[in-house]
Amino acid sequence: MVLNTAIVELDGPTGRPLIDVIRHDAGLKGTKHACREGDCGSCVVLVGEPGDGVARYRPVTSCLMPVAAAAGRHVITVEGLDTGGIGPLQQPFVDEGASQCGFCTPGFLVSLAGHLLTCSDWEVAPAFTALAGNICRCTGYASIRRATERVLGSVAERIDPEEPRFAALVREGFLPAALLEASALVRSPEATAGHGAGDRPVAGGTDLYVQRPDDFAHRHVALVDTSRGDIRLEGDEIVLSGRTTAEDLKRSEILAAELGDMVRPMDLMGSLPIRERATVAGNLVNASPIGDMTIILLALDAGLELVGGRGRRRVALRRFFLGYKTMDLAPDELVESIRIRRRPGRLFNFEKVSKRTTLDIASVNSAVSLVVENGVIVAAGLSAGGVAPVPLALVETERLLLGRAPDAATAWAAARCAAREATPIDDVRGSAEYKRLLLRQLVLGHFQRLFGLGAELVEAAS
Ligand SMILES: Cc1cc2nc3c(=O)[nH]c(=O)nc-3n(C[C@H](O)[C@H](O)[C@H](O)COP(=O)(O)OP(=O)(O)OC[C@H]3O[C@@H](n4cnc5c(N)ncnc54)[C@H](O)[C@@H]3O)c2cc1C
Ligand code: FES
Ligand code: FES
Repeated sequence: MVLNTAIVELDGPTGRPLIDVIRHDAGLKGTKHACREGDCGSCVVLVGEPGDGVARYRPVTSCLMPVAAAAGRHVITVEGLDTGGIGPLQQPFVDEGASQCGFCTPGFLVSLAGHLLTCSDWEVAPAFTALAGNICRCTGYASIRRATERVLGSVAERIDPEEPRFAALVREGFLPAALLEASALVRSPEATAGHGAGDRPVAGGTDLYVQRPDDFAHRHVALVDTSRGDIRLEGDEIVLSGRTTAEDLKRSEILAAELGDMVRPMDLMGSLPIRERATVAGNLVNASPIGDMTIILLALDAGLELVGGRGRRRVALRRFFLGYKTMDLAPDELVESIRIRRRPGRLFNFEKVSKRTTLDIASVNSAVSLVVENGVIVAAGLSAGGVAPVPLALVETERLLLGRAPDAATAWAAARCAAREATPIDDVRGSAEYKRLLLRQLVLGHFQRLFGLGAELVEAAS
């Protein structure tokens, strides 16, 4: 890999978290670690991979990324942002008092540099979204926000969003020239896809490295290639490669055209550095009953294409989960792709309640896919997470919806049916009774958002 401006030969266990190589082998201590669970952002680095003529960068939490996934890539740490003094990226943080103990500051600066390299305009809101995964324990966010606004203001004065970005940021002193030269060294890594003997492969690592933090430091791992996922139309199907990430879903023009707004659901999932690594296949095979992408795909009645020792086969997602964390998946099988049938006029919505509004795993989540013709529902997919041992397709409620008008009476009938169909348990995310109530409200929320129902829902409640 190219670490800032130096080529670093990678040896040793391929499963080592990237942060350990950065801090211990390369001695670059600016990248901090605190949680090692992807939650704090103090370990964020930028990883550049081959793009259209220039490297494309994405922020990642280096505590959850196997070093092998950085092979051939350009890794930028806070030290790499050094222009020989405090430059226009850092000065606003000084001026605004946006750093006290300084522990979080490298993460904020790297995330902000990543945003400047990749954003389409100089609006403030997307910059705050890019920094949402960085936690500061002592300064307070107001000064960090002001510093960010000042950085954006000075970039906007000097750089046209349309001009080649990296070169412009170097010209204006935001990034050092040597970093741009190093970015040209990015190459495709050796082929890494496939299985390690007897073990599951690592894709984004955002589940595996959290669940088994000590497992990987001394081991070789098999990697699923997580370079950009592929979303395409094939006849009457939308096809996602298994390695498609949450951020790929959010950016996809195909999904926006076929399913409507995918930005909001994905913005409710993790932070940007997590979404840049979190794959759809990883979400499915982790088999959490509350995986957001899993719940979305269940409502869309997706099918999976599996490849392994048994050859290539298809299985409906609704038949994939056999029990808590058990699946119709052989140890040597990979989820190669996910297929969704296209339905003209399909209405889609996703709702989620978590203890924190964003960046948190759901207490209960739910997705719906409806087709309405001549004033009645002719096709319905409804799913819910956190209310059963497996991600749940609410089949009785789906049947109830067919042939009905999408009005307040139907919304209430569906909400009550869904609450009866669910089998939640008491756990840290809430009591069974609370989760049933949440599910009922989320189903009402689908109707509110898709059909503009408001006061009608309140009236129909009595
Ligand atoms: C801070 C943080 C916040 C999070 N927030 C959310 C959230 O809001 N919502 C949510 O749903 N999840 C969340 N997650 C969980 C996680 O990011 C997702 O489940 C993610 O989609 C997992 O994908 P991955 O590629 O990182 O999987 P990995 O950790 O790499 O793998 C998970 C499992 O899938 C298997 N696997 C991966 N790819 C394949 C394949 N192609 N074929 C077969 N098996 C495969 C692996 O072997 C492993 O068993 C969060 C995680 C973190 C750390
Ligand atoms: S150490 Fe907290 S996100 Fe990596
Ligand atoms: S400045 Fe101390 S944690 Fe942010």
